[in-house]
Amino acid sequence: MFTRIDHIGIAVEDLDASIALYDEIYDLKLVHRETVEEQGVEAVLLDVGENHVELIAPLGPDTGVAKFLAKKGSGMHHIAYQVEDIESEIARLKASGIVMIDNEPRTGIRGSRVAFLHPKSTGGVLTELTEPAKDHH
Ligand code: CO
Repeated sequence: MFTRIDHIGIAVEDLDASIALYDEIYDLKLVHRETVEEQGVEAVLLDVGENHVELIAPLGPDTGVAKFLAKKGSGMHHIAYQVEDIESEIARLKASGIVMIDNEPRTGIRGSRVAFLHPKSTGGVLTELTEPAKDHH
């Protein structure tokens, strides 16, 4: 079961310039900043009520996000749904014919465990499952 939208992921070229928009002008609270090597990004989380905006900037030119930016420019990158048991959700989705990019959870921002669904299975929407760390629901 998807329990809520956890975050909207937005790909950006310049993290600090984007923080100026989201934090200073939109006045969202920047709650976390982290280099997530496993996803090839530097990322920040901003709170919007119980949900988040995740700004992601590539660590290098060979990363998925760098390729996305080269092809499409900055903008909406993915939607993340929160789940309570990511292994069972991956199994359920695969049994329903969804193609996963990640068949096993990997490490996401702020200690979460995440898995991406392939956009070819989801009407073109890059979709993430995220199981937050226990102290960050
Ligand atoms: Co995300």
